[in-house]
Amino acid sequence: MSRSKRFPEGFVWGTATASYQVEGAVAEDGRRPSIWDTFSATPGAVAGGDTGEVACDQYHRWPQDFDLLVDLGIASYRFSIAWPRIVPDGEGAVNQAGLDHYSRLVDGLLERGIAPCVTLYHWDLPQTLQHDKDGWTSRATVNAFGRYVETVATALGDRVPTWVTLNEPWVSSFLGYGAGIHAPGIRDGRSALQAAHHLLMAHGRAAQVLASTRGKVGITLNTTDVVSAGDTEADRVAAERVYANANSWFLDPLLRGTYPPLLTDWYGEDFAGIIRDGDLELIRQPLDFLGINYYSRTHVAGGDQDSGRGILPSLDSHTVVPPKLPLTAMGWPVEADGFRSLLTRVHDDYPDLPPVYITENGAAYDDVVSNDGTVDDPDRVAFIEGYLEALLEAIEAGVPVQGYYYWSLLDNFEWAEGYAKRFGLVRVDYATQQRTPKASAHRYAAIIAANALA
Ligand code: FCB
Repeated sequence: MSRSKRFPEGFVWGTATASYQVEGAVAEDGRRPSIWDTFSATPGAVAGGDTGEVACDQYHRWPQDFDLLVDLGIASYRFSIAWPRIVPDGEGAVNQAGLDHYSRLVDGLLERGIAPCVTLYHWDLPQTLQHDKDGWTSRATVNAFGRYVETVATALGDRVPTWVTLNEPWVSSFLGYGAGIHAPGIRDGRSALQAAHHLLMAHGRAAQVLASTRGKVGITLNTTDVVSAGDTEADRVAAERVYANANSWFLDPLLRGTYPPLLTDWYGEDFAGIIRDGDLELIRQPLDFLGINYYSRTHVAGGDQDSGRGILPSLDSHTVVPPKLPLTAMGWPVEADGFRSLLTRVHDDYPDLPPVYITENGAAYDDVVSNDGTVDDPDRVAFIEGYLEALLEAIEAGVPVQGYYYWSLLDNFEWAEGYAKRFGLVRVDYATQQRTPKASAHRYAAIIAANALA
């Protein structure tokens, strides 16, 4: 248990959002559709039939949202650039209006004393690349991404202090191409492995391009602590496979230059022939930091569930939610200690671990608006306090964590869950676009001001 509950000097406090989840304005100023526009328009794909067409309208309301960041005392705002605003068809013509928009965002933050943390890919792949080139299953998309990043680096490279190449390539590949529950909705094991490999290569290309800018360069991975739900051998080895798939499949190539043998053996034919000469060297670029997103621990039992909805390729495993654990509105167990455990394991396993930013952590709850219009969200306050305490313990154990971004500044479009799940520090009334800071926003501001939990 941390005694002082103080964070290190210079610790970076932030919040995060992503383009498709907050911007809206999907057909404005030359933007063309992304795979998420197509996917969310597909009947049954997103809860409630929700789409990102309007979202939080941050495309127009960013000055107001940036003022909110100032009120909270936020040092860094993580947002993402929509590729289809910059290169609307993924390849070819550049859309100056898109570059101008993000240039205004960067300046708007800098004027307010807030450091932009810019994610270059948070899942909104230009639809044309999916349609004409098969998206991330093809190497053509890696090249197209490299050219898009060159364009952004040329326009913004003098002003952006922190770049995140990709957000959560595991989700893009294994949920988008393996389980089919995210865009582009493909359900095929080999496609998932191809997409994951090509995304890692795209990171490598982007890191090479961004090395010539003034900014620090990193990648953001989703991570999860994994425990065996039972005590059989089948449960234990299933948990190891899930850990390797969720974490090591990306960390190993990035930090060791290899894929984890446990899973390359397991995948066998599904993975054969995907790696070519030079790919692993491309992937293993120097990293100024590693972005870690952490939400919850995964409890794993052996054997596929017969729901037909699992992730492909199969890991012969399934997730169970142990009784008695508190859950968020996403159904994710609240166990702050998993956060400490995952961070210390990653630190122990990778001697070359660069500094770490927690680029996302947060919780969805079914918030209630009081009669006086305020939103008291004690569960979210407790979540933040608990996870920050676990983070302090990891820092005290030696994990080089230099910043934390709460997900999210605003309630927003939660992918396949639509608007039903609210993660924001600030409530959004979608009918009026009114913003209301919740009790958790006030608590987070106090933590930031004190640089401590007390
Ligand atoms: C992460 C995503 C982010 C948000 C949170 C809840 O996987 O990166 O966009 O949806 O989950």
